[in-house]
Amino acid sequence: MLIGIPAETRAGEKRVATVPEVVEKLIKLGFKVAVESGAGDGANCSDESYRAAGAEIIADAPRLWATSDIVFKVTAPTNAEVELMREGGILIGFIWPAQNPELMNQLAAKKATVLAIDCLPRMLSRAQKMDALTSQAGVAGYRAVIEAANAFGRFFNGQITAAGKVPPAKVFIAGAGVAGLAAIGTAAGLGAIVRANDTRAEVADQVKSLGGEFVKVEYEEEGGGGGGYAKVMSEGFQQAQREMYAKQAREVDIIITTALIPGKPAPRLITAEMVHSMKPGSVIVDMAAERGGNCELTEPGQAVVKHGVTIVGYTDLNSRLAKQSSTLYGTNLFRLAEELCKTKDGIINVNMEDDAIRGLTVIKNGEITWPAPAPKLPAAKPAAPVKAAPAPAHGHGGGGAPVSAGKTAAIFGAAALLFLLIGAYAPAAFLGHFTVFVLACFVGYMVVWNVTPALHTPLMSVTNAISSIIAIGALVQIAPPLGLLGGFTGRPDGWIRWLAVVGIALTAVNMFGGFAVTRRMLSMFRK
Ligand code: NAI
Repeated sequence: MLIGIPAETRAGEKRVATVPEVVEKLIKLGFKVAVESGAGDGANCSDESYRAAGAEIIADAPRLWATSDIVFKVTAPTNAEVELMREGGILIGFIWPAQNPELMNQLAAKKATVLAIDCLPRMLSRAQKMDALTSQAGVAGYRAVIEAANAFGRFFNGQITAAGKVPPAKVFIAGAGVAGLAAIGTAAGLGAIVRANDTRAEVADQVKSLGGEFVKVEYEEEGGGGGGYAKVMSEGFQQAQREMYAKQAREVDIIITTALIPGKPAPRLITAEMVHSMKPGSVIVDMAAERGGNCELTEPGQAVVKHGVTIVGYTDLNSRLAKQSSTLYGTNLFRLAEELCKTKDGIINVNMEDDAIRGLTVIKNGEITWPAPAPKLPAAKPAAPVKAAPAPAHGHGGGGAPVSAGKTAAIFGAAALLFLLIGAYAPAAFLGHFTVFVLACFVGYMVVWNVTPALHTPLMSVTNAISSIIAIGALVQIAPPLGLLGGFTGRPDGWIRWLAVVGIALTAVNMFGGFAVTRRMLSMFRK
């Protein structure tokens, strides 16, 4: 199938839906790629670099739209672009179906299949690699600090120089979601004293781990609205929060606001009075400008000075780091293409049985399928009293139907009978080994099957240790007899030794693979 990358037409948009490095990977997946001439100019990706990566360059936008089987876009298409799209085509990009009902109808009339990247079920750990909202908010949070530094007349870090002592800048971040956390890390990295607040208390540890101080609102109310998002707080909480924010406004030099409640206008956190109370030369960067702004005096798309405070309301922070944003976005779409094309033959399958793909698919062959039902998440705590039977036939997560008492008794009865028979007829040594084997199965079941799938990757390090024990056992089988190893005196049969060699080889794959994954995970937390 041919993937088309048109130039973005929204005023000021410099991002592009893929970059040359990603084009190569898409071609390896079996796709052909066509890029509109000049589409990557704003992100420093020339036509030549796309051509070198294997893409075809098409100068004529209508031809690109009409010939592409799949179109990758960043922003939602305009009416004119939908007109250019071929009937029954596939579109992947930011769509925001709740805000764009007219666009949805227009796309449905085109019999299109539309995957809205903003509708990805973010709570699925498997979906993280495709999470463009996160990748873009991370870049924007970083850029917000750079914009603040640009408008601020001092250093961020404290310095003692021959010319005098410079105190570190104080930065307050309102909202510690993806963008807020990126801003905390960036500001702390530049040497500022960083404080942050969020209505969701669970982010306090994340704020601390990035070098910030979490400032609590003195009012007991949980702010989580489910799925890692916030809810609208009570009037009492808002009053207490306003008091705390007013105090911070008087003390800090820079405020970066990122507070957002999905489907609601941005909460108003910084009043005109608070702006007035800030020191002259202070800076506010209001990331929520496009959604109405967290600050009363923000002018969307502008940087204005009011009461001596620069208020930055840019809505194009991602375009201001277009290459970085495009590279991450392109990689998100490539990961999605991998999920859609598991056969690696350049033909995609929009599998509505897959929770992540179902969530993304807002129109399928002209039929509006948005909103998607909530994805089936693994239960955090197994509610059903599943008995500790060692070998249930159903899958992970302890999420199967509860086993009835009669069935459990029957399983235990059969197991006891089996043991009795083995005890009566098997050699004594076998019984010992068999008991250890059954206990190992039981412990393995309790350890692995009861762990939430989201934590299976960290569990790899445990599997490493278990694999190492297997390796020791296999090494004992290969080694010449020493007479020291627990009564082991005879030389093992040839086939047992070969079996041990195979065991070591397989264990090695698991051990080194596990260590590699663990290392990668740890490096995510290193600077
Ligand atoms: P997010 O949903 O991950 O984070 C928002 C955070 O605000 C959440 O942690 C939430 O608990 C918190 N929050 C909600 N109400 C609050 C309140 N009353 N007080 C304190 N905290 C509150 O969202 P994300 O992805 O971090 O985006 C943040 C903002 O940045 C959004 O408004 C988004 O539209 C905007 N954005 C702006 C860009 C630009 O160019 N200006 C680019 C990318 C994102």
